[in-house]
Amino acid sequence: MFRTIADPDPSEFAGKRVVVTGGSRGIGAAIVQRFLDGGATVVATARSATSETPPAASFISGDISSNDGVRAFASGALDALGGVDILINNAGAARAYPEGIDSIPDEEWQDALDLNYLSAVRLTGALLPALREAGAGSVVVNISSGTALSPQGPTAHYGAAKAALANYGKALASELAPAGIRVLTLTPGNVLTPGADAIRQAIADTMGVTLEATTAGVPLGRAGDPRDVAEAVVYLASDRAQWVTGTNLVVDGGELPTF
Ligand SMILES: NC(=O)c1ccc[n+]([C@@H]2O[C@H](COP(=O)([O-])OP(=O)(O)OC[C@H]3O[C@@H](n4cnc5c(N)ncnc54)[C@H](OP(=O)(O)O)[C@@H]3O)[C@@H](O)[C@H]2O)c1
Repeated sequence: MFRTIADPDPSEFAGKRVVVTGGSRGIGAAIVQRFLDGGATVVATARSATSETPPAASFISGDISSNDGVRAFASGALDALGGVDILINNAGAARAYPEGIDSIPDEEWQDALDLNYLSAVRLTGALLPALREAGAGSVVVNISSGTALSPQGPTAHYGAAKAALANYGKALASELAPAGIRVLTLTPGNVLTPGADAIRQAIADTMGVTLEATTAGVPLGRAGDPRDVAEAVVYLASDRAQWVTGTNLVVDGGELPTF
């Protein structure tokens, strides 16, 4: 079980303008809440808000899987915040194809790239002038996935898109470092959220095992809680990590066999 940590410093992100994609539920909602707890002003987006969406954030509904959708959201976020200091590219999803790579339709590869990779590339590009204006100390965090490091057939389209995201983040980090803008990748392992549970259920059904079995065997003894990821994100986005850029931080309870 997640052990509640000491109260966050309510002034750590005071004055910071934060954008979180996929902030309606799951990991994104926990990230939004954690920045709010740290005193930030936050704009979140997703296609629809849920009961999990933190009400203290501004919520802009929209679909960021197209360039037009990204541009509309970027413009709305800048209108709401007047600028941006921290961008968290968290929106992502996958449909599992338990029969393997050969069963993944062509359009699904494109959809996976559009949402899990290109939405982050496009949004970062759209907000880059604002991030440059905010200057040294501004931060981009891209949320990848353990499947990018440990690929599996049923989600190969998604894993490839997330691997591309990490590769892109490393290049962007080098390019923006002279401006003092940091770019990080965070790679979660199995975290209990509505979206990930649906994928794991599809895989469990095919394997004839329970949903719980898909997250058994984590060395630290449990699957992740969205707040585990949110804590790592706020560390990476904070001045506590001011000499950290281009890094891929794995947050997985020790599950991935690689590093
Ligand atoms: N949970 C895990 O085990 C795990 C592991 C590795 C990586 N990740 C990554 O972590 C991130 C968060 O995952 P999660 O588990 O919290 O997933 P989730 O519960 O399904 O939440 C996904 C978020 O993305 C939004 N989203 C999906 N499609 C969108 C679109 N076209 N336009 C705008 N927003 C969209 C969703 O809202 P709407 O559907 O309303 O748009 C929701 O806010 C994702 O990038 C995921 O790939 C998760």
